[in-house]
Amino acid sequence: MKLWGGRFQKDTDQLVNALNASISFDQRLYREDITGSMAHAQMLADCGIISQEDAAAIIDGLQGILADIEAGKVEFTADNEDIHMNVEALLTARIGDAGKRLHTARSRNDQVALDFRMYVREQIPVIVGQLLELETVLCRQAKQYQTAVMPGYTHLQRAQPISFAQHLMAYAAMFRRDVTRLEDCKARLDECPLGSGALAGTTYPIDRWETAKALGFAAPMGNSLDGVSDRDYALELLSGLSILMMHLSRFAEEVILWCSWEFKFIELDDAYATGSSIMPQKKNPDVAELVRGKTGRVYGDLMSLLTVMKGLPLAYNKDMQEDKEPVFDAVDTVEMCLPVFAAMLDTMTVRTDNMRRAAGHGFINATDCADYLTKKGMPFRDAYTVTGKLVAQCTAQGKTLEELSLEELQAVSPLFEQDVYDALNLENCMALRSSYGGPAVSETTRQIGEIEQFIQERS
Ligand code: ARG
Repeated sequence: MKLWGGRFQKDTDQLVNALNASISFDQRLYREDITGSMAHAQMLADCGIISQEDAAAIIDGLQGILADIEAGKVEFTADNEDIHMNVEALLTARIGDAGKRLHTARSRNDQVALDFRMYVREQIPVIVGQLLELETVLCRQAKQYQTAVMPGYTHLQRAQPISFAQHLMAYAAMFRRDVTRLEDCKARLDECPLGSGALAGTTYPIDRWETAKALGFAAPMGNSLDGVSDRDYALELLSGLSILMMHLSRFAEEVILWCSWEFKFIELDDAYATGSSIMPQKKNPDVAELVRGKTGRVYGDLMSLLTVMKGLPLAYNKDMQEDKEPVFDAVDTVEMCLPVFAAMLDTMTVRTDNMRRAAGHGFINATDCADYLTKKGMPFRDAYTVTGKLVAQCTAQGKTLEELSLEELQAVSPLFEQDVYDALNLENCMALRSSYGGPAVSETTRQIGEIEQFIQERS
């Protein structure tokens, strides 16, 4: 007989049971469920709704169930649908009538809203911690490559000189925002839905502040319908994780490019690469490819829940049971990807020689050539045209700009003097880009320092 079996004359069809039961996945919430129930029982007793003896028996019973679940001694059953009813049934089997009093002034609707909120609240620091580990690796690597010139790209065409440190710190800045996005989500979910009841609160004299406080929330949610209806905190988490995966995926894409023979800017440690079953020479960047691939499923998780929620009238609808698997999947995926990605970056070998060689071709100092003429008094647009002609001449002759003689340069503009060769030197081009946020060492030093401080503030 179901816990809710009172008004039914027939057993549930087995196919309905299979569709309806969520215990296979929501058993993950056992700890949150038990913690919430303990706070609820204590509050009921403190408000004189149940006796202190019953509350003590409930709390003691729940503690025993928690210990048994963690020891692997509990078998959940789909007959009891979900984690909430499994725990309640276990409790009643163990302590009798007191167990049946636990659900006074509560509904599974506020119960599940509480459990899920607590789960999201607990996972955020885990993911933030992993992001901070990744930031630490990026800072450590960046410090070693502040003067390593590499070509910066637009349209995947060599564009202007940057340092490898500047490139890494661009990702560090993105991951920093990912951290604060998750922190924002955590700050906003800091309200307790318990006590919303099924949807309309309760006639019992409950104390929602007591449970909110006991469970570590700033306050109870102010509207009982909202308390059981919304899943925006889960959607904020999924959005934050989708954006984070988008960042990781772009980085993964670059790692894959950089590992190719066409670039060879980096080499992965053997522990973070894989081989081919047929081609003996292959060393494949599977870690990066999987991270890029798994980004799709996290986006899918976000889209699933957005779609589940979009047409639901207030308040609770069973559709909302579909909120859990996408969130669990996204959390598992991100928590799997972040540490391995950080370790892959931590152990890579950086081929600064190949970066420097690539930077030497592709006219990435052409802007600097135009800037040279501009600083000598030529309007920038004219300097741009003159430099464009020189690039065309070099392309025809298979030369770089700095390989042109002073006579050849002066043939297109008398403003060229011997110091143009300093202006075209790639190390100088990079070092002189000291505008705020630029790749000059002074600026990458500042960026690294700021990220290190950001990490420090959270440890
Ligand atoms: N297993 C349900 C869920 O995850 C719990 C809430 C059920 N509430 C209800 N009225 N049937 O959403």
